[in-house]
Amino acid sequence: MSTASKTQAAPAERKVIDPDTYFDHNQPPANLQQAHSAVAAFIGAQEAGRPIVLVTSGGTTVPLENNTVRFVDNFSAGTRGSSSAEQFLEAGYAVVFLYREHSLQPFNRQYSHRTEGLLDYLQPDGRGGISVRPEYKERVLSDLNRYEQLRARLLKVSFTTLADYLFLLREISLLLAPTGARSMLYLAAAVSDFFIPSHSLAEHKIQSAGGDLTLHMNQVPKFLRPLVKVWAPACFVVSFKLETDPGLLEPKARHALDKYGHHVVVANLLHTRKWQVWLLTRDADPCLLQISQDQLLRGHDIEQDIVAELVRRHKVHASAA
Ligand code: PMT
Repeated sequence: MSTASKTQAAPAERKVIDPDTYFDHNQPPANLQQAHSAVAAFIGAQEAGRPIVLVTSGGTTVPLENNTVRFVDNFSAGTRGSSSAEQFLEAGYAVVFLYREHSLQPFNRQYSHRTEGLLDYLQPDGRGGISVRPEYKERVLSDLNRYEQLRARLLKVSFTTLADYLFLLREISLLLAPTGARSMLYLAAAVSDFFIPSHSLAEHKIQSAGGDLTLHMNQVPKFLRPLVKVWAPACFVVSFKLETDPGLLEPKARHALDKYGHHVVVANLLHTRKWQVWLLTRDADPCLLQISQDQLLRGHDIEQDIVAELVRRHKVHASAA
């Protein structure tokens, strides 16, 4: 990991609202109660000792209007989260997959966001039914068998906005808390650092007749702090750190570890994230995980290596608890 040649000083601490104030001033998502019941039942249905992981995936939106036409979004497609969820399932985990609606989903990701859509894989069978086109049959059958084998241990919950995500993250973390070290929180979603408080939002679509648009956005409180200290203090917590400036990556990841006191930060750079990441812990040098372009082209996802290493560390953590 390259060290900072020109490390930027951390900005002076500004007044940021605390997480409780954020929850007091924002509306919970419509699916909160239903998600609560589904996650509680899912956790209760797992056999004793089975490890559980919450995988968050995709980007949060920040609405610009209460009747939302426009919003601020980010690049995340949910590749990291959906591929990781598959790896955790293969490793024997029960997976709660908290994902941005319409982003990539485990197993199905191979069949969406491509040039081919679902109908391109199918054909009428001439007897009033449908079949898979011969050229895709082997692949579809193998993926379908894998999905069928593992899907009973997968629960999907969707979010769209930043507020949806944060309410659901808190709810699910609180439900996982009693399972303690048996559970992992794997926070791969790309979460907005800025938002417009609901009382400052335009009620209706912002009109272009008013000329240029200037946005004032407030800083979102860091939710890792209450998550680690209050919501799920005994769980194994893995956060992600994304930067575009290589010089900032390690200092920022170390800062997060020191500040929030959780277990691992997976550090990645926007443009190399698909083949290179670093795992950071408080007491060791960064652990580089890297795959070659050739491996990538042959379908090896780096999430296989990330998840294998985290499963190993989670076992150590759980057995010491
Ligand atoms: O989906 P892909 O296209 O595959 O991309 C994967 C990814 C690059 C999005 C993923 O690997 C990744 O790095 N996710 C985290 C991106 C991110 O939010 O980084 P950050 O540096 O802004 O935040 C760091 C951590 O703080 C995150 O774990 C986040 O959950 C947490 N956070 C962020 C904002 C906030 N208000 N409160 C938080 O606690």
